[in-house]
Amino acid sequence: MLNWDNPLSSPQQAKVAPTPSVAAPEVVEKNAEPQTLAASYATSDVIGDMSFDDTGVTLPEVKAPVATPTKAEEQLAEKAIEGITRDETETLNSIAPVKASDKRVINGEADVNQLAPFKYPWAWEYFLNANKNHWTPLDINMAQDIQDYHHKLSDNEKHVYENVLAYLTTSDILAMRNIGLAVMEKMTAPELQIYQARQVYEEALHTWTYQHCIETIGIDQGEIYNRYRVVPAINGKIQLANKRLDSVMRSDMDLRDPKNLNEFVMAYIFFAAIFEGTWFYNGFTPIFSLQRRGLMKGTSEQLQYIMRDEVMHASFGIRVVKQIMLENDVTLDPQAIRDMWDESEKAEIDYAHYILRKPILGYTAEDHIEQYRFIANRRARQLGLEEPYPNAQNRTPWLDEQANMKKEKNFFETRVTEYQTGGALDWG
Ligand SMILES: [Fe+2]
Ligand SMILES: [Fe+2]
Repeated sequence: MLNWDNPLSSPQQAKVAPTPSVAAPEVVEKNAEPQTLAASYATSDVIGDMSFDDTGVTLPEVKAPVATPTKAEEQLAEKAIEGITRDETETLNSIAPVKASDKRVINGEADVNQLAPFKYPWAWEYFLNANKNHWTPLDINMAQDIQDYHHKLSDNEKHVYENVLAYLTTSDILAMRNIGLAVMEKMTAPELQIYQARQVYEEALHTWTYQHCIETIGIDQGEIYNRYRVVPAINGKIQLANKRLDSVMRSDMDLRDPKNLNEFVMAYIFFAAIFEGTWFYNGFTPIFSLQRRGLMKGTSEQLQYIMRDEVMHASFGIRVVKQIMLENDVTLDPQAIRDMWDESEKAEIDYAHYILRKPILGYTAEDHIEQYRFIANRRARQLGLEEPYPNAQNRTPWLDEQANMKKEKNFFETRVTEYQTGGALDWG
């Protein structure tokens, strides 16, 4: 049996379940304790610190009656096998293999359970690249962050740090629900769904990361997780995302209907280009500004890993949206696009003025807002749309460099923050 604490160690001796001292009943008694999930695992699985050996529930043994088939039953079974074989042969002859050209991003008719031949090989490449960057929040040393938070950060810097986390904790759950519950089910090519499945995992990993930071540093969890509900400037961004998510969280949403299709495309643009591509990208900057001064280096390194995932999420999403527009008759309403940028900008301005109500050394609310506009222009260009803020300036030229750290070891040590190939992403 594999020891999950040390997979290379010699196999553990499997523990043997005690033999019941009394004769086991034939069926589970009506009031017996229900079988838990843990109890259904093998009796010697150990995962991390958790052992499934002792579940606290002892189940009565249930013996299935052993029946001997009669001659008539054996003959019937033989006939059934012959029948299945005949049917399968006919079925196989009548179904042509899936052709790549039959696949569509949405509204496709091809078998969604057949991965290849690929119509979207780039989607498979995203999946392979994402898998080259494995990490967990436990890999990164947070010891200095505890010292920094409690003894070095000013009140203003603490305010920034906490509220960035308060926003992010909720955002990644929203991102996970969007891709996993609203988007994936509408895709009709498995190579797209496979990368999105990885994305769902990554969003969960990001949530774990924030939780790890909060827990390690000793911030009040109940208060910080609730903050997005009571601080209007954080709530404003969450509500915009919730509104888009609600508009597509319908399993009966027929994307052949032009109105539905338009709503889906707009929500996808919002999540890929703004929520992940701009708000997340920009959202880590205040903490990176602390990192540049040698503060909260562990948290910043965690965010660097997350940022790279998010860049891939945004880039993948934008590509999917463009492919949907290629394959379907979608006409975007320029006014709706303008409104989307405007309401996102307004929400970001409110947020920036709240988290940076007083500037911290090297970073102001104005820097944050201008950076939002600068990155939004980049996403618009990627989408093939007009730049929403034509004169926006790059106020934090160090930001891309921060995210795109390749072979250099992180200046503040800990571990090499290198994607095997993701570091070579095109930022244009
Ligand atoms: Fe995320
Ligand atoms: Fe994401």
